[in-house]
Amino acid sequence: MYEMAKILDVLSDGRLPSRDGLESVLALDDGREARRLFSIADDIRKRHVGEGTLFRGIVEFSSFCGNTCRYCGLNRSNKTLKRYRMPKAGILEAVRDICDSGIGTVVLQSGEDDGLDPLWLKEVIESIKSESDIAVTLCVGEKTRDEYRLWREAGADRYLLKIETSDRALYESLHPGMSYDNRLRCLADLKELGYETGSGIIVGLKGQTVSSLAEDILFLAKWALDMIAIGPFIPHGRTGLSGEAAGDALMTLKVIALTRLVTRKPNIPATTALGEACEDLRFEALRCGANVIMQNFTPERYSLLYDIYPKKRKEAVKAL
Ligand code: 5AD
Repeated sequence: MYEMAKILDVLSDGRLPSRDGLESVLALDDGREARRLFSIADDIRKRHVGEGTLFRGIVEFSSFCGNTCRYCGLNRSNKTLKRYRMPKAGILEAVRDICDSGIGTVVLQSGEDDGLDPLWLKEVIESIKSESDIAVTLCVGEKTRDEYRLWREAGADRYLLKIETSDRALYESLHPGMSYDNRLRCLADLKELGYETGSGIIVGLKGQTVSSLAEDILFLAKWALDMIAIGPFIPHGRTGLSGEAAGDALMTLKVIALTRLVTRKPNIPATTALGEACEDLRFEALRCGANVIMQNFTPERYSLLYDIYPKKRKEAVKAL
């Protein structure tokens, strides 16, 4: 009890606790102490990023993916999924809707689409920027430094690339054929090129421990990120992890609160995955450190096919 009060004091003062300290907060199951943690994180959020909640509009413009991430429904082995790429005109229309809603940032998201033409994306970014002064966030995966530079010079402002887990062995077991070092190389390139850079993790992955979550929090702090997305694992039937349990809601909220406390300034979304968990946890997240809501502006005939994880509003998938 006394130990916990000391750790919460360290966090509240903005000092970085030890990994053991983080682990004991993550392990706490005392409701009163968890509420105290959330309330400190909420205060720090207000102090560092203000009272308001920021909104972002997402456009999921391509569901093609060349990777085989073991948790994700877009993995290329999922042959049952019909794939799409939105035409440029459709993307621009969705961006106009975002602007009309008074939202100041569009997140252009896709699977890691090997067929994505970098020059086409450059033109999309330039067209968006010529129509409005909306901020453009890209979330299209691991690419070359030259591609990142091309899009930055075209006007892209921010880039999101989640590390998913900072535990190298776990990372490699969940991402067959991918390289942890290349992921770090991408994050370093993005920062050097002047993107506001975001990363983040999934909570509740098979094989993840409280100790690796504590390392994740230290990793996110060390990288001095501008945005940090933390969401619970949601099992998907067409993946290697289909039979596994979903990520724990309370654990996800504790990771968000601790991340706010050790990083202070970044924008932290109440992730879409939190909205798809057993109950909508996004509003809880906004009271324990998160300050951003992501709203999906992908036309429905596409978003139904953007099947990363099962969504509550699942309907029969319409033909394109
Ligand atoms: N559960 C939770 N999050 C997932 N993502 C992909 N699949 C899942 C899943 N089954 C997240 C990853 C990825 C983002 C686009 O979606 O963190 O970076």
